[in-house]
Amino acid sequence: MTVLVTGGAGYIGAHTVRALRSSGRKVVVLDTLERGNREAVIDAELIVGDVADQGLVAKICGDKGVSSVIHFAAYKAVGESMLEPEKYWNNNVASTEKMLDVLTEQRVDKFVFSSSAAVYGTPLSMPVTESDPTKPESVYAETKLAVEKLLGAFSQNTDCRLRSVSLRYFNAAGASKDNRIGEDWSSSQNLVPQVMRALLDKDFKLEIFGNDYPTPDGTGVRDYIHVEDLAVAHVKALDYLESGGETLVCNIGTGSGTSVMQVIDLAEKISRKKVPYRIAARRAGDPISVFADARLAEKKLGWKAARGLPEIIESAYEWHRTHPNGYRRGN
Ligand SMILES: NC(=O)c1ccc[n+]([C@@H]2O[C@H](COP(=O)([O-])OP(=O)(O)OC[C@H]3O[C@@H](n4cnc5c(N)ncnc54)[C@H](O)[C@@H]3O)[C@@H](O)[C@H]2O)c1
Repeated sequence: MTVLVTGGAGYIGAHTVRALRSSGRKVVVLDTLERGNREAVIDAELIVGDVADQGLVAKICGDKGVSSVIHFAAYKAVGESMLEPEKYWNNNVASTEKMLDVLTEQRVDKFVFSSSAAVYGTPLSMPVTESDPTKPESVYAETKLAVEKLLGAFSQNTDCRLRSVSLRYFNAAGASKDNRIGEDWSSSQNLVPQVMRALLDKDFKLEIFGNDYPTPDGTGVRDYIHVEDLAVAHVKALDYLESGGETLVCNIGTGSGTSVMQVIDLAEKISRKKVPYRIAARRAGDPISVFADARLAEKKLGWKAARGLPEIIESAYEWHRTHPNGYRRGN
């Protein structure tokens, strides 16, 4: 009974591998390492390869006795997806479908998928619930919604009915409490690592995209979820499937919104340094305010965020301060 974690050498996958190991599960990681790091895979076997390699996926399932899959492997940069849409459709959707074909042949029937709050686009009201309309505003978001739909179709397959939980993450951030793994700013455009870079790299200035939104301080509002809370949500999703739970789509957020300026203020307080920044134009497709209604996750999975923004900023600052060169550049 092994869990196959695709993309387990990436940011969220690596934290989840550790949470799975703590829950007593056997884990095997499949990752190309194109955007992940060997060093981030702790206490689990890493197989370097592509989820689209059907022979390899079949061999792993057979050799390791895979009974469930957590699927992180994907490209995640919204801007890049608009410039290179085919690359995103191929890797995020076509490769996933290839893998799903093998999993059904191999009778693997439990699947947890990394979806995204990006599927909602600009929500009509806040907090956003799972039954709100989906209106993807990027190719990236389209690919996430396409896989959710694909999983809906696979759950109807009568030979091997694949049950799945699609977790619509809000904004993952922070680092592990023991300071071993974090989010390298060289491979992420997300706000928290970029704020950390502005604090620690004297040649870098943060750009804030718009300060004239109709929010209390004019900057965009998001729901920041600690990566270790997010990791636990995957363990809970597997527990749910293992106890017979049906296919589910579920928000994973804290339920409260934080503005860009609030993130900066707290980072300045914790680091006792100034964040150098400049105000840039709004970015097309950036919603004003997005935060989750997280009640379904609590009801169905028994999951609720346990950490808040202070733990996110403190852990991220500690990891970046002690790993100024990230993973790749050696510390
Ligand atoms: N980071 C966030 O805030 C966030 C929010 C919503 C959804 N997500 C989704 O969560 C997942 C994980 O995100 P992350 O932040 O850890 O990203 P990441 O880029 O750090 O990790 C993705 C990993 O997948 C690997 N990979 C990519 N394509 C592969 C393939 N075809 N075969 C095998 N390995 C492959 C990469 O090498 C990388 O290690 C992604 O699917 C992403 O879209 C992330």
